[in-house]
Amino acid sequence: MFEAIQKLPPDPILGLTGAYESDPNPNKVDLGAGVYKDESGATPIFKCIKEAERRWGQQESTKVYISPPGFADFNTAIQKLVLGADHPALAACRVRSVMAPGGCGALRVGAELINRCKAGSTIWVSKPTWANHVPLLGSAGLKIAEYPYYDGAAHGVDFDTMQVTLEAATRGDLLLLHGCCHNPTGADLNRKQWDVIVELAARKGLVPFVDLAYQGLGEGLDADAYGLRMLALAVPELLLAYSCSKNFGLYRDRIGALLTVSPTPEQADAGLTHINNIARGIYSMPPAHGGALVKTVLNDPALYAQWQGEVDGMRNRIHMLRALLVDTLKRMNAPRDFEFIKREYGMFSFLGISKEQVQRLRTEFSIYMVDSSRINVAGVSPKNIEYLARAINSVL
Ligand code: LMR
Repeated sequence: MFEAIQKLPPDPILGLTGAYESDPNPNKVDLGAGVYKDESGATPIFKCIKEAERRWGQQESTKVYISPPGFADFNTAIQKLVLGADHPALAACRVRSVMAPGGCGALRVGAELINRCKAGSTIWVSKPTWANHVPLLGSAGLKIAEYPYYDGAAHGVDFDTMQVTLEAATRGDLLLLHGCCHNPTGADLNRKQWDVIVELAARKGLVPFVDLAYQGLGEGLDADAYGLRMLALAVPELLLAYSCSKNFGLYRDRIGALLTVSPTPEQADAGLTHINNIARGIYSMPPAHGGALVKTVLNDPALYAQWQGEVDGMRNRIHMLRALLVDTLKRMNAPRDFEFIKREYGMFSFLGISKEQVQRLRTEFSIYMVDSSRINVAGVSPKNIEYLARAINSVL
């Protein structure tokens, strides 16, 4: 069986972490995978999570299987967090959710559900989109179509072309949208643009599949859910893949959620039986630990407030690092204007340099970023900024 098997190239994002770790250069800089880093370059465990872990450790009395949807009080808390407690879709009992092994697990189960309902459906994804979207959705059997999203020359959303392209989509097509903090560009839709897309999706009968992996890291917990909440008001059905990796710092615990809004409570229940059945056929049930921590935080007012403060702190620090990078490049007389980086949201921005320049930064300076020139802004720090800015300048 394995006689003819060929080695694959490293994953375009995760492969960078291994390369960075084995690089002996003491000045190396990791701007690769989207993980938050503090001043010292570490990715600390949230304080609220440490406390939730302590409490859960005392309370947990069994390691027996959990049910396929996971903890009921995780699911109700996540539904309120993403949609807002008073959302009409919740009041109408049209929302269901399950715990999933990270945002990836949610995307994959969601894609399988779509394929069960309508095999070979087309899903429109932004160009560019996160490097793992197409593999995850495509291997479930969905057809991938692209809508233009980012104008590299103007460093912003190419909204007119996006809109015109989506006008050509067919009723029943899926529309993958990044809820906030667009990965890889950092260029988000503004509220007016969201309103246009919401109207377009409703009028054309497109089914939104929202990927919300950075809630709280763009403008705030509620602001970052604006598009999703408006969509859930305007269209009869949608899917949401949610990740707790970044905004709870639970990367390796693999916790996220798949949420559906259905036209009626009965259809919502029927959909849930299929979601559980699909998960059963892949991994049976989600891992419990991350979900236990998230529900402990979300269902305790004091821990919730602490969590909100920690998320606010990350967001403000990322905005500060964006300014630090742009201002340092300017002070060093960079031959280009990088102001656009200050206007973008979340962990990522494109530097807008060529693949060759990215390679030079890696081989000559041990600075690691995705080939597309996507940087994880959280990897910038007051300690590495001079080195980093000088290196970028020298390859421009
Ligand atoms: C990223 O985009 O860097 C993160 O979402 C990590 C990943 O799984 O790719």
